[in-house]
Amino acid sequence: MGKTGLQLSVLSFGSWISFHKQIDDSIADELMGMAYDSGINFFDNAEVYALGESEKMMGRVLKKKGWDRTSYTVSSKAFFGWRGKQNKPNQTGLSRKHLTEACHEALQRLQVDYLDLFFCHRPDKNVPIEEVVWTMNHLIQQGKILYWGTSEWSGVEIMVAHRAAHQYGLIGPSMEQPQYNLLERHKIENEFLIIFNTVGMGTTIWSPLASGLLTGKYNEGIPEGSRFALEGFDWLKDRFMVADKLNKVKQLTAFAKELGVSVASLSIAWTIKNPNVTTAILGATRSEQLTENLKALDALPLLSTDVMQRIDDIMQTKPKLSDF
Ligand SMILES: NC(=O)c1ccc[n+]([C@@H]2O[C@H](COP(=O)([O-])OP(=O)(O)OC[C@H]3O[C@@H](n4cnc5c(N)ncnc54)[C@H](OP(=O)(O)O)[C@@H]3O)[C@@H](O)[C@H]2O)c1
Repeated sequence: MGKTGLQLSVLSFGSWISFHKQIDDSIADELMGMAYDSGINFFDNAEVYALGESEKMMGRVLKKKGWDRTSYTVSSKAFFGWRGKQNKPNQTGLSRKHLTEACHEALQRLQVDYLDLFFCHRPDKNVPIEEVVWTMNHLIQQGKILYWGTSEWSGVEIMVAHRAAHQYGLIGPSMEQPQYNLLERHKIENEFLIIFNTVGMGTTIWSPLASGLLTGKYNEGIPEGSRFALEGFDWLKDRFMVADKLNKVKQLTAFAKELGVSVASLSIAWTIKNPNVTTAILGATRSEQLTENLKALDALPLLSTDVMQRIDDIMQTKPKLSDF
């Protein structure tokens, strides 16, 4: 992972929206079992997912599976808190108090002794960066977390954290968790390039399928029970269910068919083709989805220069490189 010694599987598995809201313990058990048996060694979570219930569910599954703790990695993320509208001051954000308490609570919910990865789920403009870096360094020294990182921070914010770490001889952020998919490319392919080329950074990218849009499942409307049909997710539906994006996905679906693969496996393969992607975090609500998505590894060898160019021509989302 980036410049660290940690080995993450190129595909990983996360629980956002699905755990507790859409699936119960038995499906979570089935999906995590499939993932682990296929070689996935990283399970992603956060305090805010289903307001703590997602971590509890993953913790129950991990406990039941009884896998050797050294054979997998598990994460949590702090910032949003887990009490929703009831969050009081100090129950959110990146203060020493909340980061420390969020870590302790995640350990309890996940029923593990340490987190392999611990993320600052968003930047916090109200907390000095030195406080964040000292706290994460301290949690590492205490053995409660092994690597710390950021999620949806800007390149500048990440580099400011590195400067503080360097100044005090502390461990800086090792990984970032940005969105990366065929519709959202700027950070990985442009803004972060100088970070990859200097201090180095692993990436655990999220929504490789743009919440399912890149499976083609929304090409003819919104299927019942799918993510965009869920109550309270209009904001997500409105972001993706737009004519221009749907039109591109329809063309990509036809191209994937020509290649003999599903558009989902092609889209996931495309994300992990990028050498700056450490791992693409998959999401799934049923086993058939995960089976299809794991086929991304078979689609990967199809991504020749010509195929990559065809994909760019269809999607028209390749960012223009900045001058440095
Ligand atoms: N750091 C952050 O801010 C952040 C933000 C978001 C996510 N994440 C992480 O990234 C993980 C993955 O994100 P994501 O869930 O948005 O990933 P995604 O791959 O873009 O979307 C996954 C969803 O698409 C649908 N789907 C997946 N494969 C399918 C298939 N083959 N056919 C049809 N439908 C399929 C399923 O939803 P339905 O069945 O419900 O339609 C599934 O839950 C999360 O679990 C979380 O760990 C992090």
